Amino acid sequence: MQKLIVGNWKMNGLSADLVEAEAVAAGLGDAAVRVGICPPATLVERMSRTLAGTLVAVGGQDCRAEASGAFTGDVSAEMLADAGATLVILGHSERRAGFGETDALVAAKVEAALRAGLEPIVCVGETLAEREAGRAIAVVTGQVRRSLPAALAGRPFAVAYEPVWAIGTGLTPTTDQIAEIHAAIRAELVAVLGDAGARAPILYGGSVKPANAAEILAAAEVGGALVGGASLKASDFLGIIAGA
Ligand code: PGA
Repeated sequence: MQKLIVGNWKMNGLSADLVEAEAVAAGLGDAAVRVGICPPATLVERMSRTLAGTLVAVGGQDCRAEASGAFTGDVSAEMLADAGATLVILGHSERRAGFGETDALVAAKVEAALRAGLEPIVCVGETLAEREAGRAIAVVTGQVRRSLPAALAGRPFAVAYEPVWAIGTGLTPTTDQIAEIHAAIRAELVAVLGDAGARAPILYGGSVKPANAAEILAAAEVGGALVGGASLKASDFLGIIAGA
């Protein structure tokens, strides 16, 4: 299956950085991968215009579950879609940890994404303490079970396995550790969603860079990558895409 490589710019990026997205689109050639970039909300509309007609999709990094209302500072799935997004990252560990997002809230946001016609990328991952306590599989499969509503069946979506201790640290799990968790996620997806759970790509995220991308992307059940720091520069991001 075609790999899905998504860049998560996090809270980085001004107008001047749109040239990086343009360079990614220009450098893709006929790459046999799906590529997306999720810039901060302020750039979603401009990046969508800039990348119109290219193979690079644009996404949000979060959305509110409600479609509209008195929620100062928040952005809805409908607003992201209206701005040109087709993807949205949900349940990223920086939101789970920093904003107290629960699995139930993530599931509500997934429903919102589907309502707006967006393809959700639902993030799960264990902390270092949880891994050291031997609980990585239990934590991750529990997050999958509770964050993915039944409404996902028949709709395009992806899961991203991002061990919290690997995000932005330069540390990565071994490919055996990645394959072990991805296999557990696959089994849980099939248990929860049946056939639909058998097809959804499971991305790996956490310190993916050009030097380790090919090895990680070749591991069993790795359907792509969610890339933070190394997605900010087109040359790095293209180097990762080339590893797919
Ligand atoms: P990183 O971030 O690639 O900078 O480790 C990944 C992520 O948080 O999605």
